[in-house]
Amino acid sequence: MNELIKNMEDYAIKNDIPIMQKDGIDFLCDYIKQNNVKTILEIGTAIGYSSIRMALVNEDINVITIERDEKRYNEALKNIKKANLEDRIKVYLEDALYFETNDMFDLIFIDAAKAQYIKFFNKYSSNLNKKGTIISDNLLFHGFVEDIEKVKSKNLRQLVKKIIKYRKFLEENTEFKTIFYNIGDGVAVTRREE
Ligand SMILES: C[S@@+](CC[C@H](N)C(=O)[O-])C[C@H]1O[C@@H](n2cnc3c(N)ncnc32)[C@H](O)[C@@H]1O
Repeated sequence: MNELIKNMEDYAIKNDIPIMQKDGIDFLCDYIKQNNVKTILEIGTAIGYSSIRMALVNEDINVITIERDEKRYNEALKNIKKANLEDRIKVYLEDALYFETNDMFDLIFIDAAKAQYIKFFNKYSSNLNKKGTIISDNLLFHGFVEDIEKVKSKNLRQLVKKIIKYRKFLEENTEFKTIFYNIGDGVAVTRREE
């Protein structure tokens, strides 16, 4: 299994696929273990790296993951098959903004188009178990969030602004409480207020 994980990391570098950074994914897996997470919805599969890592935390974990890019979806299917995890990881080739499920989850992991994070959060928070958690990745966005003046490209600046807006949305949300961690590319852990 270690070899498959290493191959996926190499493939991601070679093909410019933005999989989770090492300390970010380690943090996520520790969180899953410590909080006894069993059911996970992931938005943004890419090649299946984080879904495989999360499923490997424990044999009774099930993951539903959504990817809109066909090439990455097919790569994810291949990797999940190699990991023998087809019965515990279900991948859907769909735009997560239109995906429909009535399932409830212990963890919702948001790691897709950064400009859509508020929409993903609002769409899927009703699928979160009462004591569940929403984890969002890339909230530092390579350090640009802390220093937007550095960003010269107009498009990139727009994207950074969207992430800042999402951070504010989480901070000001009265139904949920969020803790931000400067781990990996910036991870937010959000839970319902008691
Ligand atoms: C950062 S990558 C996911 C990395 C993956 N979670 C990992 O760490 O191994 C984001 C992925 O989300 C996909 N994506 C972006 N917006 C999406 C959407 N609206 N619906 C489904 N997938 C989306 C992109 O195609 C991309 O492959």
